[in-house]
Amino acid sequence: MSRYLAAIDQGTTSTRFMVFDRSGEVVAIAQEEHEQIFPQPGWVEHDATEIRQRTDQVIGDALTSAGLTADDLAAVGITNQRETTLIWDRETGEPVANAIVWQDTRTADLCKELAADQGPDRFRAKTGLPLATYFAGPKARWLLDHLDLHERANRGDLAVGTMDSWTTWNLSGGARHVTDTTNASRTMLMDLVTGSWDSDLALEIGVPTHSLPEIVPSIGHITECVGSLAGVPLAAILGDQHAALFGQACFTPGMAKNTYGTGNFMLMNTGDTPIPSESGLLTTVGFHIAGEAPVYALEGSIAVTGSLVQWLRDNLGLISESAEVEALARSVEDNGDVYFVPAFSGLFAPHWRPDARGVITGLTRFANRGHIARAALESTAFQTKEVLEAMTADSGVEFTEMRVDGGMTANELLMQFQADLLGVDVVLPKVAETTALGAALAAGLAVGYYESLDEISATWSEAKRWNPSMEASQVDHLAGRWATAVERSLGWVT
Ligand SMILES: Nc1ncnc2c1ncn2[C@@H]1O[C@H](COP(=O)(O)OP(=O)(O)OP(=O)(O)O)[C@@H](O)[C@H]1O
Ligand SMILES: [Mg+2]
Repeated sequence: MSRYLAAIDQGTTSTRFMVFDRSGEVVAIAQEEHEQIFPQPGWVEHDATEIRQRTDQVIGDALTSAGLTADDLAAVGITNQRETTLIWDRETGEPVANAIVWQDTRTADLCKELAADQGPDRFRAKTGLPLATYFAGPKARWLLDHLDLHERANRGDLAVGTMDSWTTWNLSGGARHVTDTTNASRTMLMDLVTGSWDSDLALEIGVPTHSLPEIVPSIGHITECVGSLAGVPLAAILGDQHAALFGQACFTPGMAKNTYGTGNFMLMNTGDTPIPSESGLLTTVGFHIAGEAPVYALEGSIAVTGSLVQWLRDNLGLISESAEVEALARSVEDNGDVYFVPAFSGLFAPHWRPDARGVITGLTRFANRGHIARAALESTAFQTKEVLEAMTADSGVEFTEMRVDGGMTANELLMQFQADLLGVDVVLPKVAETTALGAALAAGLAVGYYESLDEISATWSEAKRWNPSMEASQVDHLAGRWATAVERSLGWVT
């Protein structure tokens, strides 16, 4: 059997190709960013053609750098930014327009219209999701409406899909138009219990089912790749957060992870039953092994965390590298009573308020750039605290520690502040690239490279731990100030 496993991680800001050995150690990596296109306030787009090129490039670069060929790979998995939606022509294989990114808010009116007098929870019982701009189905409908594509879609000329579908289509040379259960669970078009497209939902939301990809299990043989991965079995597709749940080996109910990337996403394995949320979380598919029942999860999604650090860098020029935010935040003793609520795409979990927009509150003549940086970092930890409390309320599980991963976990100040606020240990695994790792491990399970989930669990090991040390009264004070700041962000969009 070939020596290694690989994953394509098609993320919001970049695409990575990573090769891992049996113990989960990184053997090769290449990464390329793609353009973030902001045509107007609230809109975010990606050029799917550019993403296809970047994907090809990182596969080639990583293999070359490690002196590997496709023959060295036992299997490949795909993991991807979720909900980002595009439509392409089945004949030419070319996108009809830019993809609409998950952060984009242009479907706000459409979502309101769909909610009608039944409110945003109209489809929650069936889909696990509130009607929000976040999800894919209404994004597809928006494209069909505004590019006048309904007729072509009805004729079957067009393929609708998320980034996993697009990447699989390209890896299979146009042979496969599929998505996996985890990605499909983010469209508002799939029935969570049956794991199939729901024709009533498709009709209500206005996306013809024959334009949608076939839903396949997340973990199982999907296709044999062509091109630079010729002959390698594509054996797993998982949305990025679901892949991280898998990569963190959260295989038993009650286990959870929190990923600190562009946004933050906490997922808890809830086993074979979808648990409806009453606290502003989503119910979603955790992962789905072929031949088995899907494993469900509760999710707290926060739209803006690491991207706020990028915003400080790109839009304010306060720093020139993300990592510099820590030194700037440490240049002040504390937040100086400054709070930054980064509601750039409205607020996601647990508030789900599309009418919110970003605010910085508590400014006085005393405040400086250090306080802004500190408040920006702390906003990630405050939002995570809100989500963790919702998770405990919905699941009844009292956390004793939190497994974390993602780019922002490099920030010591943030991780310590996070442990302080949560009052539980924050634990980082040895391989922090859990998203790509999860997709690779899942592909390995599908092809028999690993025998069992237990064998995969054994590859997980702890690298670092932060213990809480803040007085409870101080935590309460800070959380109270944060809650007041959140109130200030609401109702801005009228
Ligand atoms: N030292 C740091 N302190 C704070 N934030 C950081 C630090 N290093 C990286 N980041 C932030 O982490 C994010 C990148 O993390 P990661 O690579 O996990 O993102 P990602 O979510 O996987 O990206 P994508 O959404 O493209 O998949 C960026 O938003 C960056 O600003
Ligand atoms: Mg990612």
